[in-house]
Amino acid sequence: MVNMKNRDLLTLQDFSAEELLHILEWSKELKKNPGKAGRPLEGRQVALIFEKPSTRTRVSLEVAVNQLGGNAIYLSTSESQLKRGETIADTARVLDRYVDAVAARVSSHTWLEEYALHSRKPVINALSDLYHPLQAIADLFTVWERKGRLRGVKLAYVGDGGANTCHSLLIACSKLGVDMVVACPEPFSPRREVIKAALTNAYRSGSKVEVVKDPRKAVEEADVIYTDVFVSMGKEAEAEERKAAFLPNYRVDEKLVHIAKEDYIFMHCLPAHRGEEVVDEVLDDPEHSAVWDQAENRLHTAKAVFSLLL
Ligand code: CP
Ligand code: NVA
Repeated sequence: MVNMKNRDLLTLQDFSAEELLHILEWSKELKKNPGKAGRPLEGRQVALIFEKPSTRTRVSLEVAVNQLGGNAIYLSTSESQLKRGETIADTARVLDRYVDAVAARVSSHTWLEEYALHSRKPVINALSDLYHPLQAIADLFTVWERKGRLRGVKLAYVGDGGANTCHSLLIACSKLGVDMVVACPEPFSPRREVIKAALTNAYRSGSKVEVVKDPRKAVEEADVIYTDVFVSMGKEAEAEERKAAFLPNYRVDEKLVHIAKEDYIFMHCLPAHRGEEVVDEVLDDPEHSAVWDQAENRLHTAKAVFSLLL
């Protein structure tokens, strides 16, 4: 029996392959039969603390909590006393008295660690500078749904290797046996500690992890091509430098996807900057683009996560 009750979800590194597969299997059940979970959150309160903008995460989490019978309370940090200097620890101590769980989207991953240290309730990472675990769960669910397997699938991530999405994918893929190649300019490589963790996971699962410079090499024989924006939230000051480093080589266009397997799928966490990291023809390709299913799967997987942790 896999029991994940009362756990924090700050990074997928804290979860075993068996636990991650359990989340994916439960997501599959809930997608087939949305009412199957019942109302495990009846009478429960979940605070959604957001320091950064969001469309998918905010709405999928609110809908997930509501569908599970609970109540979601949205709190923007700029409208809370955090803005005026109330400490993270004091905020956690107080919210702990009102709510049963917290999901937070913040600039700094250490914010989440600090909050979790002072909270007795589950704390869920709704995106930090380092990780985006809920996204990676939905991503791997989408790969599994489209490809019918995870082990041996090759995922090529093209673009900002230091992005939260890339980091969480490195962890999730290496745990679940998906081969992952990241193609990025050297200054925008994944963090050393993330690569190290992914290599250790990959050694155990028998998968491969690689970081290369050439996007064409990365997408050779790829089953999945994944990209994210070149300028993540919080990196706006580096916009010019980043665009100069990524463009035009790392843009996912028709020429690049042509190198992948014929039945490749294209994935993007969204929002996309059309024409920048990906061209319309790839994003809107009805045969290969999985982005809308991927976005939908944020809801099913969020329901799985809430019903398993709470
Ligand atoms: N993919 C994702 O997290 O989207 P939002 O920023 O809209 O939540
Ligand atoms: N890497 C992106 C993901 C957005 C969902 C960002 O942090 O802005």
